[in-house]
Amino acid sequence: MHSFLWTVLVALLAGAVLLAEPQPDVDRRVEALLAQMNLEEKIGQMSQSTSMSTPISDRIKAEIRSGRWGSFLNAGSPADRAEAQRIAMKESRLGIPLLFGRDVIHGYKTIFPIPLGQAATWDPELVERAAREAAHEAATEGIRWTFAPMMDIARDPRWGRVAESLGEDPYLAGTLAAAMVRGYQGRSLADPMSIAACAKHFAAYGAAEAGRDYNSVWLPEILLREIYLEPFRAAREAGVATFMTSFNTLNGVPATANRFLLRDILRAEWKYDGMVVSDYESVTEMIRHGTARDARDAAREAVTAGVDMEMVSTSYFDHLKSLVETGQVKVADIDSAVRNILRLKFRLGLFDHPIPAPREVAATPGSLEAAERAATESAILLKNETGLLPLGDSVRTLAIVGPLADSRVDQMGTWSMDGRPEYVETPLAAFQKLLGNGRVLYAAGLKNSRDLGREGFPAAVDTARRADAVVLFLGEEQILSGEARSRAFLNLPGTQEALVDAVSATGKPVVVVIMAGRPLTFHDVAGKAGAVLYTWHPGTMGGPAIAKLLLGRAAPSGRLPITFPRTVGQVPIYYAHLNTGRPPSERELGIPAGNPVQPQGYTSKYIDVDFTPEYPFGFGLSYTTFEYSDLRISSPILQGTGSITVSASVTNSGSREAVETVQFYIRDLVASVAQPVRKLKGFERVLLKPGERRTVTFPLHPADLAFYNEQKRLVTEPGRFQVWIAPDAARGVSGEFELR
Ligand code: BGC
Repeated sequence: MHSFLWTVLVALLAGAVLLAEPQPDVDRRVEALLAQMNLEEKIGQMSQSTSMSTPISDRIKAEIRSGRWGSFLNAGSPADRAEAQRIAMKESRLGIPLLFGRDVIHGYKTIFPIPLGQAATWDPELVERAAREAAHEAATEGIRWTFAPMMDIARDPRWGRVAESLGEDPYLAGTLAAAMVRGYQGRSLADPMSIAACAKHFAAYGAAEAGRDYNSVWLPEILLREIYLEPFRAAREAGVATFMTSFNTLNGVPATANRFLLRDILRAEWKYDGMVVSDYESVTEMIRHGTARDARDAAREAVTAGVDMEMVSTSYFDHLKSLVETGQVKVADIDSAVRNILRLKFRLGLFDHPIPAPREVAATPGSLEAAERAATESAILLKNETGLLPLGDSVRTLAIVGPLADSRVDQMGTWSMDGRPEYVETPLAAFQKLLGNGRVLYAAGLKNSRDLGREGFPAAVDTARRADAVVLFLGEEQILSGEARSRAFLNLPGTQEALVDAVSATGKPVVVVIMAGRPLTFHDVAGKAGAVLYTWHPGTMGGPAIAKLLLGRAAPSGRLPITFPRTVGQVPIYYAHLNTGRPPSERELGIPAGNPVQPQGYTSKYIDVDFTPEYPFGFGLSYTTFEYSDLRISSPILQGTGSITVSASVTNSGSREAVETVQFYIRDLVASVAQPVRKLKGFERVLLKPGERRTVTFPLHPADLAFYNEQKRLVTEPGRFQVWIAPDAARGVSGEFELR
């Protein structure tokens, strides 16, 4: 064929794939199919199983043939999925394709930083790219649905799933959740390389009491709407295809039978026409919550609240038929659930694409490059007082010490079941590659992060003595964060602190790198180190990213997406708190424990620790310095229908090119409901050369000033507002304007 014609044909085919099927056609096909389905087949579509093993058992094959299942999760190999799909589409009565879902949370084979680390990049484009790479890898292996992004606001580092969150702030989390949705779903769900995203866990799961996973949540509606639902609304706006309910009760009502959340807000207010799946057995867990008598009762409650698909437990299949027959569940509720499920399958093009050939995917140079960039941008420089970093040429020999310096699995973090350890480059390997083996000495010191022994200390100390500087890799191993991994202590586990003492006693310059799934408390450790870099669990390419940052081949640009407490006793601590009637002043810091208490003012503080955080939200250092000046507001008055801009000059006052994340905050000074001392309303990453000065501008509309009033209505009230353009939530240049 003529090459021009060929190009045109390829372009047309690609276009046909990328364009989503028009909605009326989808609706027509859904209705036509629904009309042919019997009740068992409908309930089959509403059921998701985890029991597909390799090879697929004859029982499961027979069940697929009979239309028993609509979806499988975390199951089978690519070949199994292709075979199961063939059976569903060729051998079941109606040929309805299966939907394969999986927890593709921060990468698939190529692992990106944990979501909390990705949030530290404050870089929506990069976060979108990470999700796109993951979608590509997963879709190639026949997975067309991920249970991500998790956008539960997390203000409690004890909660193990803080690692999976996008941090404490609804604006940042919502912006990044939307970016992830775009990345997973691509330009069109019908693209075979797109996967449906899932906004989870709806809702308020991150507000579990005492940070204990699955615990109860009590939240006033104002807080629920302004903070916890906001990222979900942003994901909905971005077109997220599915929602997952959460395990918790919300004000006593399980999220999985919560009509207020699922009907009033999601369907009625947000006009969502996608699919809702329960969490893993969260339907039958309502029996233990004490809100359902038995599985039958649980099925009835969930389906009438609007849960379309039941994950793993089988109360729908076991009871919905008889519930319909006895009139306790309306056929209309079943039909609407099945419509939502079929609509998704049509939108994904599952009915139209040929059954994909089984294929195993491998990392590519592109996915590894993206993973390294994400790991680089997610690292936060918390301390560099002595200018120890970047390590200069005077460091001829470098000692690498610590339980996380060379642990492929640990650096991938939670939810990396598909991540391939053989792709992982550890920091030790990266330093050896970059500096040559002769310049790098290594001693783990401890077997893992929880090791209580000290047998490895002498070798670690000896290694430190023989080097010009030491990099200590500390933190938490993989299994200490994630689901059901709540901690009551936030310090470095095991004898890591003692290892720091032993190594720092050598007098050698010490850099501490912390790999963890949550904010930890490490005040004393930081005091003994010349520099601290917080890298979270950085994923497959964490090693080269960290080594290049420490050697100055890249400059740190990560910023905290969550406040770091000084001690676990301050939790929950977050920047957008209310002022109270007795705010403490900077002079009223804590008195170290053990000292006689000198009563200060009767203000909202602690007597044994400073009321301020260890590191504020938005914080992060660079190898250069930035100065903020000249805050300008385009008009002192914002009219109800107009808009203003707020701008400031940001100057790179140091000697290195680097990225600064410029943050924009507001405060409503007087309102009918007390408002937070600051709220993030915008941010921008700017790359500045040494000496370069840039004006950074943020638009502001009255809608940005809205809040929920006592009647739970979203309102703006006239009055004075304060604004900041700032490097973090505790500093910045500030001004005021009036809303009329
Ligand atoms: C988790 C979900 C996850 C599901 C499937 C549950 O335990 O809460 O986030 O998607 O399992 O693996």
